[in-house]
Amino acid sequence: MDFLEKLVIPATTSHLYLLKVMLILSLLIFIPFLGMLIGGTAFSVIFNTYGRKIKSVLFVRFAKDIIDKLAINRFVGVGLGVVPLLSITFCYAQLLYQVNVICVSLLFMATLFMIISINFIYSYQNTFQIESLVGTLTSISGIYKHEIDVKIPEDIIDYEFDLMNANSNSGLYGLIMLLISGFFFTAGTTIALYSDRYQDFQNIAQIFLSGASYVNFLFLLIISVAVTGSAILFFFFSWQGGLFNMDKEYSNFVKKIAGNIAFTGAALLPIVIFMSFFVIPNVALSGSVFMWTGFSLVSVLMLCNFIYAVIKNSDLKYISAVFYFMILSVGFIVLINQSAFATASIKNLETISIKADELEKEKKSKTVNTSGVNGEEVYTRVCAACHKFDTKLVGPPYDQTVPTYNGDVKKLASYIMNPVKKNPDYPPMPAPPIKQKEAEAVAQYLIDKVSGKK
Ligand code: HEC
Repeated sequence: MDFLEKLVIPATTSHLYLLKVMLILSLLIFIPFLGMLIGGTAFSVIFNTYGRKIKSVLFVRFAKDIIDKLAINRFVGVGLGVVPLLSITFCYAQLLYQVNVICVSLLFMATLFMIISINFIYSYQNTFQIESLVGTLTSISGIYKHEIDVKIPEDIIDYEFDLMNANSNSGLYGLIMLLISGFFFTAGTTIALYSDRYQDFQNIAQIFLSGASYVNFLFLLIISVAVTGSAILFFFFSWQGGLFNMDKEYSNFVKKIAGNIAFTGAALLPIVIFMSFFVIPNVALSGSVFMWTGFSLVSVLMLCNFIYAVIKNSDLKYISAVFYFMILSVGFIVLINQSAFATASIKNLETISIKADELEKEKKSKTVNTSGVNGEEVYTRVCAACHKFDTKLVGPPYDQTVPTYNGDVKKLASYIMNPVKKNPDYPPMPAPPIKQKEAEAVAQYLIDKVSGKK
């Protein structure tokens, strides 16, 4: 993806710092949402398929509520899914400027798959709504069946059948695309840590050989399970008062299942944190990697405790604590990865800022040249006919006259623009055909040259 390389310019030191902050913020938004979307879609599809098979209204209703609450709506999907991922891709493109490695292309493909999957997922979400509308219609027409004998019910049943198929298919496709996107994303961010082995990762086929990418993909899946469980608890019971029309049976059902999902995910987190820690290459290890790993383990421990409290005592007051500790844990995990990347990319970042400074300089000298105010050029073009530095020509030698201006460029320039009679040994100097800018440039040039600077 060479065009991405061309889009970015090397960043200066302060710009690099800003990029890192932006990258961490985007990841903090993106990872929890990605987890919620992967887990939400997966569990919704599973409960939907299974629920229809065993004809359980409870399961299907749960499937609908999950995708409603966790995927929220299309705008949120774009805002918290696509936009942060784009900005993550852009940040990596800048931080890996001119490094020959597949990471940025992988992230770019992750973004494309994300866009496709979002389309599927929200049409999956949508079919539930149409379905419940059709359901209402069927039951209404069912009530009046004996009174009016019309064909509508059959049509509706046909329609509902098609809809059910489309429904489960688009959910499944969305999930598959999302998993592909997630895999490319983890592969991209994982390979970025191997700065000593970038030459091994030049094309897509090679990423499948990266064991660390699989470990981190597993990590993402476990995060998704934990985030999803906590998010179901949070959005069903806590956020804005929770769901309203929950009867006792449904509410107990949700609490039990979501509690178990959250607990399973959270309990597995320490294992994958360790696994992912051991695949961090030496070039990326630093004290802060150890520190954030420690913090994330403590935070996950707290998380498990709060989830346990919710399950055990079915105490709803801990649900927001569960959600916040979940987000906090994800935050620490992001920081592990980013401090590792910062260490791995130190050398490259140095090269980038040096290059940026060079480019900056080049730009400056260019602006002087191109806008036509090169002092030396003005001198040879206009003044050299009558002036030399060391000998008398038509006018007096500069070595004698210029020092009397004591380095005052403005004063000399204004003389050049409007010469006045000075030395009786010479004829008057005609006003040269030049602009103010050129006069200033040539004045600067003369002063520099006479004082030996040039
Ligand atoms: C047609 C010939 C001619 C050209 C072209 C010309 N000069 Fe002169 N210049 C003179 C003469 C003659 C004098 C002496 C005038 C005097 O002393 O009154 C002079 C004097 C000067 C002095 C000395 C002023 C002082 O304080 O004693 C400077 C500085 C100078 N010129 C700069 C320039 C520059 C810069 C250019 C080109 C942009 C230029 N001149 C182009 C003829 C010329």
